[in-house]
Amino acid sequence: MFMNKFSSRILSSVTRPFSINSKRTMLTPFLESKRPKQSPEYDYSTLSNYKSFQIHHTTLNFSLSFEKSVVGGNVLFDLSTLNNSVNEIDLDTSFLDIKKVTIDGKDDGFNVEARKQPLGSKLVIKTDLEANKKFQLQVEFSTTKDCTALQWLTPQQTSGDKPYMFSQLEAIHARSLFPCFDTPSYKSTFTANIESPLPVVFSGIATGATEKEGTSIYHFKQEIPIPAYLVGIASGDLVSAPIGPRSHVYSEPHRLKDCVWEFSGDVEKFIKTAENLIFDYEWGTYDILINVDSYPYGGMESPNMTFATPTLIAHDKTNIDVIAHELAHSWSGNLVTNCSWNHFWLNEGWTVYIERRIVGALHGEPSRHFSAMIGWSDLENSINAMKNPEKFSTLVQKLNDGTDPDDAFSTVPYEKGFNLLFHLENVLGGPAEFDPFIKHYFKKFARQSLDTFQFLDTLFEFYPNKRDVLENVDWERWLFTPGMPPKPLFITTLADNVLSLVKKWVSSVKELKSSDDFKKAFSVADVKDFNSNQIVLFLEELVAQSCVPESSRINWADYATASSTLLDIYKKQILESQNAEVVFKNYKFQTTARIQPSYQQLADWLGTVGRMKFVRPGYRLLNAVDRELAIRTFEKFKDTYHPICKQLVKQDLEL
Ligand code: BES
Ligand code: ZN
Repeated sequence: MFMNKFSSRILSSVTRPFSINSKRTMLTPFLESKRPKQSPEYDYSTLSNYKSFQIHHTTLNFSLSFEKSVVGGNVLFDLSTLNNSVNEIDLDTSFLDIKKVTIDGKDDGFNVEARKQPLGSKLVIKTDLEANKKFQLQVEFSTTKDCTALQWLTPQQTSGDKPYMFSQLEAIHARSLFPCFDTPSYKSTFTANIESPLPVVFSGIATGATEKEGTSIYHFKQEIPIPAYLVGIASGDLVSAPIGPRSHVYSEPHRLKDCVWEFSGDVEKFIKTAENLIFDYEWGTYDILINVDSYPYGGMESPNMTFATPTLIAHDKTNIDVIAHELAHSWSGNLVTNCSWNHFWLNEGWTVYIERRIVGALHGEPSRHFSAMIGWSDLENSINAMKNPEKFSTLVQKLNDGTDPDDAFSTVPYEKGFNLLFHLENVLGGPAEFDPFIKHYFKKFARQSLDTFQFLDTLFEFYPNKRDVLENVDWERWLFTPGMPPKPLFITTLADNVLSLVKKWVSSVKELKSSDDFKKAFSVADVKDFNSNQIVLFLEELVAQSCVPESSRINWADYATASSTLLDIYKKQILESQNAEVVFKNYKFQTTARIQPSYQQLADWLGTVGRMKFVRPGYRLLNAVDRELAIRTFEKFKDTYHPICKQLVKQDLEL
């Protein structure tokens, strides 16, 4: 019999299941007191009984209907029971229409339980399965109009004359595309056969296509086991071009040329750099899909096929670090995976760390530190803006009560996670000392899912001679305490010029009066050597002024001449920039300075971007200066946004 949670808890408090394996090094007494009862920790964000089965392979047979905005078809699982007999199979579903269930080809009864927000509706299949039995489970289904995993665009919503669809399944939306064991703890190889009238891309390697009366069936395989959240599908008027020896970029035709220019120089360099740091790229090809404007994220690490936002096309290659990030997930996240969303930092913190190591290796340590500094201020902003920092700003999360991982999503796992690894790198003696651990960790956990304690065990085991160093790390603060972590020392070379220009502006604003005064004191030469990331910091710091003492800070709204002259002097770098990061910070500065014409410009811009990183704070800015305009703008554009984005902005605006 499969033990219920209650009995396993009682048992494990008496005999810890893994203390039998006496080889494990003890952590500090504090950490030991926090150790979960089972490891890897149970995932409470799934309703499936994933612990009862081993999964061997999954076959997706999907058919896309653009007319109905529906994916229909079936999913076939090759499974076996473990050492216990099982009388029920529970799968995750969310707003799916379940049509039929068969086990080894024979029809079986099923029941879809009432929806439990936000986890969805459990699909319960009663059956008698003996221990250690291999079997095939097939479920026929279709998606419904409430699907949160997909966005369907009409031809009018794309830039061409064809419709478009894409999926976005992380963290718990796979269950809204197909019935599954929707947990990062559970990995399967995949075959996918996807019928569509338009080209299809998938999180795997294309193995050909079969023609079928006006449509085609596109075939793919993913031979490395992956969790359900990493499945990715998109279909539309997609074309592709090579951007490296193992890489292509896919996009709608009108963007292809810009995509090739933006990415072709760097992708292979990134892969080689990461291979040096960790070990060989195991997935074969590395392609990028540049999605349509409404794509809600910067990027998503679908294996073999990174999905990315068109806002990466900055025409100056400065947003390419997002590609370094998604590529880095090929090791952190896709090979070595968090076992539940409580340990999401293992995915994202490690990925930011590797992303910045790539940047550092290619552009020098000052660039790595510069990017870390920007991350630090993002972290401060994010924690300051949180409605519930007590709950959501600890590194290790506690979503066991059914909290929606989308609500827990923030900069914290990214930047606190990065800073923890950066701190460890420093206290352990720098990259030379830390790099062997990186290789060891990724080798040890490749193709597995783990929790924070397995990471800690591995760390303590790897450095038996540096135990004192590791014991001195303030683990309680890093892992379980809300708020900012200890601040590291950053190399500030690339930021220094930016910050001194900010200081000069802030102090001059009170002294100088006319536009001409400012034009004598400042000129475009001030910023001519700044790259876009430095312009971003410049604008951010003009607003935050964290580099000047609190008593000297100014309110830009009181200095209209100064702010408008500033924008006039640096017009080319700020107002004319096509880099979405700069465009966004420009609106942040202008709305802070209450430059009224910018309100409508920001509103218009919010109709052209779908990336939540810009859309959500964009509406917050607008709401702060003109709530009526914010609401009117949201009403106008809401149906062009991805369903998740629409829902979150609605919450943000308290509608
Ligand atoms: N895996 C994430 C995106 C994600 C996380 C989607 C959680 C849904 C739920 C991806 O790797 C990511 O972190 N994207 C970032 C870009 C990055 C450079 C920080 C983004 O979208 O902004
Ligand atoms: Zn990421």
